[in-house]
Amino acid sequence: MIDAIRDYWNHRIHDLEMTDQPVGTKRFFEDLDEYRFDKLHYLPRLVDFSGFRGQRLLEVGCGIGTDLVRFAKGGARVTGVDLSQTAIDLARKNFELNGVNAEELVAGNGEALPYADASFDVVYGHGVIQYTADAPRLIQELHRVLKPGGTGLFMVYNRVSWLNALSKVMQVALEHEDAPVLTKYSIGEFRQLLAPFAETSIVPERFPVKSRLHKGWKGVAFNTMFVGTFNALPRAWVRPLGWHLMAMCRK
Ligand SMILES: C[S@@+](CC[C@H](N)C(=O)[O-])C[C@H]1O[C@@H](n2cnc3c(N)ncnc32)[C@H](O)[C@@H]1O
Repeated sequence: MIDAIRDYWNHRIHDLEMTDQPVGTKRFFEDLDEYRFDKLHYLPRLVDFSGFRGQRLLEVGCGIGTDLVRFAKGGARVTGVDLSQTAIDLARKNFELNGVNAEELVAGNGEALPYADASFDVVYGHGVIQYTADAPRLIQELHRVLKPGGTGLFMVYNRVSWLNALSKVMQVALEHEDAPVLTKYSIGEFRQLLAPFAETSIVPERFPVKSRLHKGWKGVAFNTMFVGTFNALPRAWVRPLGWHLMAMCRK
């Protein structure tokens, strides 16, 4: 299964279609960073990219390195692992163009990390646990390489969310629904997966924002009606329905 997952992500770099800029250019990385932090505007509030100066941080499933570059700019000593060699090659280019260093950017499987126990102060996995073959094993590995008292920051998709319901009702496929593995979690299931950690807090995020991805009448209806109506509802009512479950953990 891991071979099929690697093969998929070697050919389907996340968010690549969100820019017309030539792949691997400075404008390409700038566009994808801008797109990401527009869509995930809450992310810097939950994840302090400048808060780990001097600490060793591992990102598993780092993709083209958009978040990892931010951690590096914030002074963290970063390591990135991704199954996809294509993603790692782009991440290396991204670091070079941004003038920042990584301790290591390497193609590999997060379920079998080549690091000693308690090597990192922080482990980060955004949008990766849901795509791997054996999620409990990935969590076990991330927990193993984390120092006692260290921080784990993770994101998976919420099965009980506005986006999952909308995609079923409107019969519009989710992004990467064709990936070999795509597991969605309820808040309770995600908490159970993170049981190895001593402390866990889960915050649902990612409410509707206008989409560049979907065209046609469904896209127009979504952008003009759904987004405004949903966001007019009191956030406290709809908070549990956020598409991204952000977990902040302590070992
Ligand atoms: C949706 S992309 C997310 C990329 C980036 N973290 C982000 O948030 O944009 C999922 C990434 O997880 C990687 N991945 C999936 N399973 C993995 C595993 N077992 N070990 C390392 N990387 C994995 C894929 O290669 C892909 O680059």
